[in-house]
Amino acid sequence: MTTHDAKQMTTSFQPRRPRRNRQSAAIREMVQETRLHVSDFIFPVFVMEGAGQRTEVASMPGIFRYSPDLLLDEIGRCLDLGITTFDLFPNLPEAKKDKYATESQNTEGLYLQTIQRIKAKYPEACIMTDVAMDPYSSDGHDGLVDDGQILNDETLEILSKMAVAQAQAGADMLGPSDMMDGRVGYMRQALDNAGHKNVAIMSYTAKYASAFYGPFRDALDSAPKFGDKKTYQMNPANRREALIEAELDTAEGADILMVKPALAYLDIISLLRQNSQLPIAAYNVSGEYAMIKAAAQNGWLDGERAMMESLMAIKRAGADVILTYFAKEAAQLLANA
Ligand code: PBG
Repeated sequence: MTTHDAKQMTTSFQPRRPRRNRQSAAIREMVQETRLHVSDFIFPVFVMEGAGQRTEVASMPGIFRYSPDLLLDEIGRCLDLGITTFDLFPNLPEAKKDKYATESQNTEGLYLQTIQRIKAKYPEACIMTDVAMDPYSSDGHDGLVDDGQILNDETLEILSKMAVAQAQAGADMLGPSDMMDGRVGYMRQALDNAGHKNVAIMSYTAKYASAFYGPFRDALDSAPKFGDKKTYQMNPANRREALIEAELDTAEGADILMVKPALAYLDIISLLRQNSQLPIAAYNVSGEYAMIKAAAQNGWLDGERAMMESLMAIKRAGADVILTYFAKEAAQLLANA
C-alpha cells in the first residue's frame, strides 16, 4: 500500500470510531465503566505473639506479621486511609498447635484476645475472622485428620465452636475458609443459638486447591504436614461445581459469597455474579501478590500499574469486594489520585 492509498482510506466515511471516546483524559474518565474505591477493599492482616515486634513475610515483600500492639497501630493507619475491614489471621508457634485446634477456642489466646483489643480500640473497624483449623492444627489441615482422612462432620463441631468464640470476642463477620460440606448452615445455627444473630458470614464459596496460597502458608507456618487439600478444596478445572457450592452456601445462610483465588478465576467471579443476588467477594491471594511484587522488584514490570490493573480486572469481572494484600498501597494511590 502506498502512502497515497493510505490517505485515501483514512478519509473514507466511518460512522463508528471507538477511539473518539479515548481521545482525552476527560473523555476517558467520563466513559469509564469500572472504578476502584477504597471501600472495595478488605485488608488481610497477620498477628503473631509478642510485643513491639514485626517481621516481614519473606515471600510477601511489604507484608508483615505484627505483635498485637503494633497491629493496632497498623490498623489505625489503615483506618486513616479509609480501609474499614480487616481479615485477621494468626501465626502460632508449633507448640500451641494440636490435632483438635484447641487453641482456636482459647479466650485468653492470641487470636481471640487480638479481636477484642482491636474492637475495644476501634469499634468502627469491621473485623472479619478466619474459620478453619489450619493455623491451629498440628496436621496443617483445615479439618480434623483421622488416619490420613479429613473428617467432615466431626470438623463442623470444632468450626462452629470456633465461630461462636470469635463472635463472642467481637468479630463482625466470619470467613469459613475450610470447605467442609454444610459448614455455613452448621455455623449459622450455632451462632444464632448463642445469640449472635447479627454476626455475618462471608463464605469461601468457590475456594480452589491452588498453588497460589504458598506465601500465605509461609506467613502462618501452616502448610499441610502431609498430602494436599484436594479432598476439600475445589479442582481448578471445574466451573459448574462453583454454582453448586454457591447454591448450598446461599441456602445455608451465607451473607456474601467469595471466590478464591481471584486473578486466575475471573470467569468464576463473573459466573457467580450472574447467578446470585448476594454480594460477591474475591480473594486476591498471597501468590498473586508475590508474583507482581517479585516482577516489580526485578524491574520486569511496573508494580503499581500491574497492581491497579489487577484490582480493576477483579472488580470488572463482578467482584463487589476484594480481599487484597495491596489494600493499603492501592488506598494510598487512590487517595493521591
Ligand atoms: C486456610 C486459608 C488459606 C488462605 C486463607 N485461608 C490457605 C489454604 O487454604 O491453604 C490463603 C490466603 C492467601 O493465599 O492469601 N484456611
